[in-house]
This record gives sequence, C-alpha cells and structure tokens, in this order.
Amino acid sequence: MMRIEQLVELRATLRECPRPLGLVPTMGNLHAGHVELARRARETSATVVTTIFVNPTQFGPNEDFDRYPRTLERDEEALASVGTDIVFAPSVDEVYPDGRDTPTRVSVDALADTLCGLDRPGHFDGVATVVTKLFNIVQPELAFFGEKDWQQLTIIRRLAYDLDVPLEIIGVPTVRADDGLALSSRNQYLSEEERARAPKLYQTIEAIRIGLAAGRRDFDSLIARGASELADAGFDVDYVAIRDARTLAEASPETHEFRILAAAQLGGARLIDNVGHRAG
Ligand code: PAF
Repeated sequence: MMRIEQLVELRATLRECPRPLGLVPTMGNLHAGHVELARRARETSATVVTTIFVNPTQFGPNEDFDRYPRTLERDEEALASVGTDIVFAPSVDEVYPDGRDTPTRVSVDALADTLCGLDRPGHFDGVATVVTKLFNIVQPELAFFGEKDWQQLTIIRRLAYDLDVPLEIIGVPTVRADDGLALSSRNQYLSEEERARAPKLYQTIEAIRIGLAAGRRDFDSLIARGASELADAGFDVDYVAIRDARTLAEASPETHEFRILAAAQLGGARLIDNVGHRAG
C-alpha cells in the first residue's frame, strides 16, 4: 500500500493502475464501518484508492474542524488489513490551492435543505463540492459510500446523475454494534451511561419500519410517538422522519421505497441513523 499526498503524483500513478478503480472517500479516524467500505471496494475493484481528507468546507463555523481527530497511521494499518492499494492523503492547500472559498461550488439544493441540512447550513454544499473534486481527481469507475449518511449518499447519487459523472455509486449497508447502535466516530463522545442508552435511536426507527411493514400509513403519529420515546430516553431530538428514499420528500400513501431517518443529540454526541422499507 502506498501513501500519496500530491495530486500530480496521484495522477501519474493512477495512469498505470489496473481498472476498474474503486474510490473510498473518507475523512479518516476510521472505524469498522469505513473499513467495510474498503473491503467492499476490494471485492469489485482491481485498484482501490481510499482518500483521507478532513474537508474544511463541510464544517460550519461552530463545528469541530480543528478538533477532528487525525489518526493517519492507525487508519493506514486498518486499510492495509483489507488490501487498499493507495491512500491519498492530501493537505488542504493541495485540494484548495486558491483557498477554500472557491467561486465554483456544487449544490444539490432540494436534497440538502432538509433533515440534517437545516441545522448545518452549507454542510452538504461542502460535501458535494469535495466529492465532485475527488471524482475528477481520481476518475474511478466505482465509488463507495456508507448508507449510514443516507442524505449524503442521496445527494452524491443525484449530483453524479445530474453532472453525468461516469461512475457507479455503491451504497454500503450500515455496520452496527451488537446492540444495534450504528458505528460512528461520534460514538466516542458518549459517556458509558449514554452509550448504554444510545441504541434507543435504532430501536425507534426500527419500530417505525415494523409499523410500515405491517401496513401502517399514519406517518404523523408514528413520527410523534418515535420522537416522544426518544425524548423520554433523554435524547434531544432534531428530527424523526419518514421519507421517500430517493427524493427525500415526505412519505405519502403512494410511496414505495421508504427511508426512516432520525437525528438526535445524546450528551456530547449528535447521532444519526436510518433504515429502509420497500412496500411489497
Ligand atoms: O462521509 C464522509 O466522511 C465525508 O462527508 C466525505 C464523503 C468523505 C466527504 O468529505
């Protein structure tokens, strides 16, 4: 496995690499969920490139860009264990040579101005812009993203479709702890006692999924009940939502492919999770 930090070197190296090329974009601080992305990439790609880049343009002014853990050596060990070929770990100047306020930005407004986008203005523009840059820098045939960030995955699928980016986006199912909690780098901010309560988020959306599977379509009461159960368990709820999986529009009785999503603060951690249901 080689580490590359310069764009010109990456381009020269990739010219010689066997195809198909699979891209796994990350911000590092990897956990088993990320490693699963790289493992899936390995199964289908002749060359696997994992990027480790803490992207400043997706952090809001009060978010933790400077405090975001940088754990490059440990991340590289994890990636080597699943057979990544190249780790691209550029500096901020390498990715944004003229500064981070580039006049060109990628926005997927209708999908970004809802759910997590309401509390994090500009966040998804930063994600969409850096992912588009990474697609152009690496030019992969395949790109792997976790389903855990469903809104992000939906936005990336949409931008690739709208901008005719010639690649296939693979969504990889969420990796969970034995008690159901979705793996996330944010889990490290939970105290022991909060960690014991955290699986309630998954249990809540799972209960809604079971309701939908049983034919319930009283979305408002399913949502209200989920939100109040989370509040009772000490979560500060941002949203519980039942949406169309592809458009993120609010679900209607005609919806076939549902996504149930929730975000809530528990102690020092903002947790998100989602599950899907396809109507038969
Ligand atoms: O999901 C992430 O880690 C980031 O949002 C991504 C896709 C690597 C873009 O910086």
